[in-house]
Amino acid sequence: MTVPRFNLSRREFIQRSVSTIAIFATPGQLLRAEEHPSRIVAGPAMAKLVLDLGPETAVWAFNQQVPGPLLRYRQGDILSLEVENQLEVPTTIHWHGLRVPVEMDGVPFLSQKPIEPGATYHYEFKLHDAGTFWYHPHVDSSQQVGRGLRGALIVDELQSPQVDRDVLWVLDDWRLNQDAQIVPFSDNMRDASHNGRIGNVVTVNGNIGEEFFVRAGQRTDLIVDVAGKPGEISSVVDSAFGIDFAYELMRLVRNTDSSLPFHSQSAPLALLPNPVSRPDIANAVRHQVVFEGGAMGGMSGAYLNGEFKTMRNLAELGKLWAINGKIPDNVHTDPPFLTLELGRSYILELINRTAFEHPIHLHGHSFQIIRNNGKQLKNPPIRDTVLLQPDDSQEIAFVADNPGQWMFHCHILEHQNTGMTSVIAVT
Ligand code: C2O
Ligand code: CU
Repeated sequence: MTVPRFNLSRREFIQRSVSTIAIFATPGQLLRAEEHPSRIVAGPAMAKLVLDLGPETAVWAFNQQVPGPLLRYRQGDILSLEVENQLEVPTTIHWHGLRVPVEMDGVPFLSQKPIEPGATYHYEFKLHDAGTFWYHPHVDSSQQVGRGLRGALIVDELQSPQVDRDVLWVLDDWRLNQDAQIVPFSDNMRDASHNGRIGNVVTVNGNIGEEFFVRAGQRTDLIVDVAGKPGEISSVVDSAFGIDFAYELMRLVRNTDSSLPFHSQSAPLALLPNPVSRPDIANAVRHQVVFEGGAMGGMSGAYLNGEFKTMRNLAELGKLWAINGKIPDNVHTDPPFLTLELGRSYILELINRTAFEHPIHLHGHSFQIIRNNGKQLKNPPIRDTVLLQPDDSQEIAFVADNPGQWMFHCHILEHQNTGMTSVIAVT
């Protein structure tokens, strides 16, 4: 790994941060929810990512905040937002995981024209599903998301489960230089052919918690029962890259501070299901989707614009990954990869023939993960993204019930940029 590490030893960090551990232990208090905000401005800002351990970082931010404002609604509400672009480049907002009409989906050319510098765009749609979602641009995403344009969006259930505290951690990874500034985004083929752009500093709700190599893209709703006595400490450890690269992300410090709510409580309520149509598995139409390419993947070449090109040719053109042997030249204007019939059930068998993990994301729909490496899942989880491990095959099933042209792509944005992207049309 050639990424310069932010110059801050773990010991130094712990010494300097003793007084701030309490803040780290309660990061949710740092993110104030904006109930029904009416305006979001994307523009340059300064952020205190590394606290007092270095200078402020020049970022791109929504409403001058990193992460962007936490948008909070109740299920069934209408989201209505003016988005103003004060960047020097065009942008959009995609509402990741939300089932919205296609013209609100924030994909340039499929949904809308990009919002030009100085211009404003109005997003308005109904929030059908409860859950924790996020929003981010869908233009030059690797750079725009990577520079700080991302925020959480929570839709509360009509009947929320009773918990003592509802805390949100937004995890971001950043590649910073020694002056705590973002390392420029270039078409780094090494990153793009491996795991994508891995950061060297991770923040929780916009401040450093600890620094190490991490991978972005965690997102989960979790109910944690923190048993134990005052004074006991548990570590939250990110071991996504194996035990050698594991690091302590956060500490849960138990105390008797009476300002922290406490109710002794039995098991939490089960959440009510979202109104997602259930696929008719027996009569579903099947498609196989094979992901290939990247470093150490053994792909010899793929079709680009109907012409077979060798891996070396493709790399020269900035393409490294293929889906079913094809790479779109311009994903927004090429014919769709698949065309599905409105209202029908589909099963997509996703096969990873690469040496890397890929979080595969479908817009406009929620799907069930029904089979993992041949094993049928008893309680198929409902997702907008499925993580494929190397050599995995997983089956997802859904009803194609939202008409439009929907992106279907790897959410490692450097993979998306270099070919692992496609459009599924529902008509
Ligand atoms: Cu979160 Cu197509 O994106
Ligand atoms: Cu990928």
